[in-house]
Amino acid sequence: MPIDLKAVTRKPPETVRFYVKRFDPETGRVWWQVYEVKTYRGMTILDALLKIKSEIDHSLSFRYSCRMGVCGSCGVVVNGEPRLACQTQVAEKATVSKPEIRVEPLYNFIVLRDLITDFTEFFEKHRRIKPYIIRRDLGEREKPTLEYSQSPEELSQYYEYSLCIMCGLCDASCPVYASDKLFLGPQALAQAYRFIADTRDEMWALRLEELDKEGSTYKCHFAASCSYVCPKVVDPAAAIQRLRSILFKYKLRLYRKKVSNVVPPMEVKAKPTPLPPEATVIENVSLEKLEEEKPLIPIDKLIE
Ligand code: SF4
Ligand code: FES
Repeated sequence: MPIDLKAVTRKPPETVRFYVKRFDPETGRVWWQVYEVKTYRGMTILDALLKIKSEIDHSLSFRYSCRMGVCGSCGVVVNGEPRLACQTQVAEKATVSKPEIRVEPLYNFIVLRDLITDFTEFFEKHRRIKPYIIRRDLGEREKPTLEYSQSPEELSQYYEYSLCIMCGLCDASCPVYASDKLFLGPQALAQAYRFIADTRDEMWALRLEELDKEGSTYKCHFAASCSYVCPKVVDPAAAIQRLRSILFKYKLRLYRKKVSNVVPPMEVKAKPTPLPPEATVIENVSLEKLEEEKPLIPIDKLIE
């Protein structure tokens, strides 16, 4: 998503009206609550929510942890766009002519309370694609002893997909995920590609079978909204297109995966015998030479 990086340098309107969508699970009531918040330069949506919670309304609920775009727990919808609250500047979303911001829970997720959504199904779908490297050799799987070499080109095949922080913004923006609960969703599919493309993994067939169930991979309409909203520029839409091609070849028995070379571990080099201190201070000076000639620097200085 094109984040307005310059927003951090702009001063937001002095007071911004926040419309926060709230939900009380005990009564089932849903309503929009309005809060007037005094802002400052550099204030994020998460800062504003924390200010509301500490100074105006203690009952407002939302989730966050790292405050720096890493944990992926603060996803909300800001003015209609799925965003990380800690990564979105108030100055980016509120202007002097319209000093208002709407904050809602993530779309396509069950709301537990106010801005907190239920990620159980999201994690379940992620688990289904087996998001870890699997080797055929059980012994090696349990107790690895070998090294799995990988070239920079092989790494580049999946690296960007390994940056996913599981924030769920892609699933919240996906029109297919909204209408079909059996669809695995862009996050799980991008991770499936990430492990299938990893040359260290040998069990791609297991994942491809899972992806084929209910035609999950082929349900994508390629709206690409997942790639647009991803705060880590992961591009799940591209991963799904690559998966389609792999699955198609797999079904025709044409898919051949290159598996990385397994090599014995590098020998642990024996520690060199420590040299006398005077020999370690200046390189290329042999002890014999030091004994024969008068050193350029007095030995006591060298020892220092
Ligand atoms: S692919 Fe991007 S938007 Fe989707 S969960 Fe991962 S980091 Fe979040
Ligand atoms: S609080 Fe961790 S990503 Fe926003």
